[in-house]
Amino acid sequence: MMAEEGRTLRLFFALWPGAAVRAHLAQAARAVADRCGGRCTREENLHLTLVFLGEVTTVRLGEIEAMAARIGGERFVLHLDQMGCFAKKRLAWCAPRTPPAALLRLVGALEVGLGALGFAREARPFLPHVTLARHAHCGGEPMPAIDVLWPVEDFVLVRSQRREDGAAYEVLARWPFA
Ligand code: 2AM
Repeated sequence: MMAEEGRTLRLFFALWPGAAVRAHLAQAARAVADRCGGRCTREENLHLTLVFLGEVTTVRLGEIEAMAARIGGERFVLHLDQMGCFAKKRLAWCAPRTPPAALLRLVGALEVGLGALGFAREARPFLPHVTLARHAHCGGEPMPAIDVLWPVEDFVLVRSQRREDGAAYEVLARWPFA
């Protein structure tokens, strides 16, 4: 993408599921919305955020991508075995009960790399989750069970555009693990 002075993009690093995992997650989203109400995440939008950057000027895209390309990273399997709800945000999610060490190392390496480029560190602790539904009624019904194995072979940089009918995401770049 050509850098244009003064233009910004809303960016985040994420894990993006392949078709099979995405279909399982979409099924889980429907199950949770049946139970708790709310609006399912659109199937093509399902993802797990690694680091949220926010609005970034396009002139910095090149150095962000070069930093990501140096990370390397290792393949891992993400076992999504827990559903929950953030009551304040009314957001239903699924997550690994035990985040794999390779996932935490990846996020740590991205945070260090972004810090070296002068980006402020995310104040909130990293809580890996896939958002399944928004405007959910948390706290009532018990959450349905989930048991999804997600083989993770790469990570991506994503552009987010907020539209009236929800977010539209565009994968800008992808880095396979060694
Ligand atoms: P969420 O699904 O829990 O809301 C794009 O907005 C992605 O970045 C979402 O996965 C969102 O998480 C995540 N994200 C992390 N920090 C954010 C922030 N400060 N503002 C908006 N989205 C954020």
